[in-house]
Amino acid sequence: MTQAPQSAVPAAGDVVDPVVSPKDTPILNDINKFKLVLLSLNTARGTTLTHGEGTLQITWDETVRIAKAAEKAGLDAILSIAHWKNWAQSRPQYDRMWDAITFAAGLAAVTERIQFFSTVHIPLFHPVMVAKMAATVDHIASGRLALNVVAGWNQSEFGMFGLPEIEHDKRYEYAAEWMDFLLKIFESDEPFDFHGHFLHGENVVSQPKPLQRPRPVIMSAGSSGAGMAFASKYADVNFGIYPSLEEFPAILAKAKATATEAGNPGLKFCGHGYIVCGDTEADAKKQFKYLVEDKLDRLSTETLTEMSMGKMHSVDVVAREHMYQQTAGGNWGFPLVGTAEQVFEGIKVMAEGGMAGMAVSFPDYDEGVARYDETIRPLLIEAGLRKF
Ligand SMILES: Cc1cc2nc3c(=O)[nH]c(=O)nc-3n(C[C@H](O)[C@H](O)[C@H](O)COP(=O)(O)O)c2cc1C
Repeated sequence: MTQAPQSAVPAAGDVVDPVVSPKDTPILNDINKFKLVLLSLNTARGTTLTHGEGTLQITWDETVRIAKAAEKAGLDAILSIAHWKNWAQSRPQYDRMWDAITFAAGLAAVTERIQFFSTVHIPLFHPVMVAKMAATVDHIASGRLALNVVAGWNQSEFGMFGLPEIEHDKRYEYAAEWMDFLLKIFESDEPFDFHGHFLHGENVVSQPKPLQRPRPVIMSAGSSGAGMAFASKYADVNFGIYPSLEEFPAILAKAKATATEAGNPGLKFCGHGYIVCGDTEADAKKQFKYLVEDKLDRLSTETLTEMSMGKMHSVDVVAREHMYQQTAGGNWGFPLVGTAEQVFEGIKVMAEGGMAGMAVSFPDYDEGVARYDETIRPLLIEAGLRKF
C-alpha cells in the first residue's frame, strides 16, 4: 500500500540540495571534444594479463596516487569495473580488486573535477540499494557520479552469489525492468509501489536524491542487438568493443542509426584504447611483446577467452588470430602501441570515425598517465581534440 503523498514543498529548515545537470558533467559537457576515461583502476593488473612487472597491485595508496595523477593530467573520468574474482586463480595477488561503488566514494572525497563511472552488476543489486548508494556517492562527489549499468555475463562470478545462468537476451529483459524501477526511484518524490515481472517493492521512497537531476549519467557497455536496444532506451553513453581501427566506423554508423531510430539520437559512443607508448616504436613494440607474449599469463588469457566467447557478444567481433593478444593486452581495446605521435594518430582515427571518446588503459598506470600527460596530451590539445 502506498502512503498518502507528502507535500513536495519544502518546509522551513528542510535541506534543499543544489541541482547538477548530467549534461554539465565531464563526460557529456562540450569542453573536451574527445573524452578520455581511465579504465580498470580498481582491479589488479588493470587490463593486462601478464606475469610481467609494473602493472596495478591494488593498494589504496596506489589507487589514490594514480587517481590524483589522472585528474591532474586532465582525464575526464575513471571507470571502475564490477569484477569479483580473477579469470583464473593463477596467482592469489591477482585476485585483488576494489568494489566499484565504494571505490568511487573514497576517490570522490579526495578529488575535485574528475568524474567516476561505477559499474553495477544489475542481477546482484536491488534498485533500492543502488538508488541509495548512487545518491550517497553523488553527494560526496558534488554531482560527479555516473553509473555503468551492465547485465553481467561472467557465470563464474555469479556462481559465488548462488545465481543460476540466465540466457543472454533474458538478462536484458531483466535489466530493462530494473532500470525502470531505478529511474522511478530517482524521479519520484512520493512513495510508490512497483510490481514488475521480476522485481517488486512496496512503499518505495529514497531521499536524498542524487545531486544530478533527474538522474546521474547512465552508461552501458553492450553491443549486441539486445545490448544496443538497452543502450538506446536508457543510456547517455555506450562503450563498445570494436574489431579494429579500420573496421569500426561502419559498425559505429549502424549503432548510431539504431539509437536514432529508437529515439536516442544523442547517445554517445566510445571505444577503448590500450596505450603502450615508448620513446621509439621499437621500444613500445618490445614492451608489448614482453608483456603479452614473453610474460603472458596464458592460463588467465585462455580462461577469459573461453569464458567470454559466446557470453559477451561484443567479444565475438575480435579476429580469432588476434584474440589472445587483444584479450591479454587491453581486454579487447585497440592496441595503440608506438610513439606518442603514433598513439595520437590512433586516437585521431577514433575521433574522425565518429567516436565521442574512449576508455584508456595502460600496462603501467603510473608511467602511462605520466607519459600521456607529457607527450600525448599536448598533441590532442594542439589538434583541438581536447581543451586540457
Ligand atoms: C568499457 C567496458 C567496460 C565493461 N565493464 C564491465 C564490468 O565492469 N563488468 C562486467 O561484468 N562487464 C563489463 N563489460 C562487459 C559488458 O557489460 C557486456 O557484458 C559486454 O560488452 C557484452 O555485452 P553484449 O553481449 O550485449 O554485447 C564492459 C565492457 C566494456 C566495453
